[in-house]
Amino acid sequence: MYTNWEELRSDCMACQRCGLGGTRTNLVFGVGVPDAEVVFIGEGPGEQEDLRGEPFVGRGGQLLDKYLDAIDLSRRKNIYIGNMVKCRPPQNRDPKPEEQEACIFWLREQIRLIRPKIIVCLGRISAQRLIDPAFRVTKEHGQFVERNGVWMMGTFHPAALLRNPRQKPDALEDFLALRDKIREVCTHTY
Ligand code: URA
Repeated sequence: MYTNWEELRSDCMACQRCGLGGTRTNLVFGVGVPDAEVVFIGEGPGEQEDLRGEPFVGRGGQLLDKYLDAIDLSRRKNIYIGNMVKCRPPQNRDPKPEEQEACIFWLREQIRLIRPKIIVCLGRISAQRLIDPAFRVTKEHGQFVERNGVWMMGTFHPAALLRNPRQKPDALEDFLALRDKIREVCTHTY
């Protein structure tokens, strides 16, 4: 268990807990402010993220930033963004269960140190891991559940919205519901 963010970060950056450690260009630790009350969790780095070492910097990331901006959130200002796995799976395949298992240690430590009030799962992989193994994004998106004093919500993965733009209005509703929840439970996000 870590008590120091920089120690956690530097150990994580050297991680070889699974095979992805041998194929990554950059480990993608996460981005945002250390006192964030709202944390977003995606699935894993894609090609652009692997090249740049930052989550959600490809086309999906640009779309995510638009939704964030719509409710006055920004990765530079008042939130934190991380992923279930920190290294890119080759050819963007789904992370294997053993890779997720090895990597979730780091995410749990990050969340333990940040102590967010709200966690937003971006897409099925993180919602099924962090909220409910049977989570269905199309049915349960935008619904908040409280777990150990933390409010959790799952919404559409930005890449899914690029593939299926008809879901964009629903995604916007989820972000508006998030804004309401932030106003209700957060003290310094806005
Ligand atoms: N998709 C994700 O789930 N995470 C990223 O960082 C980029 C794309």
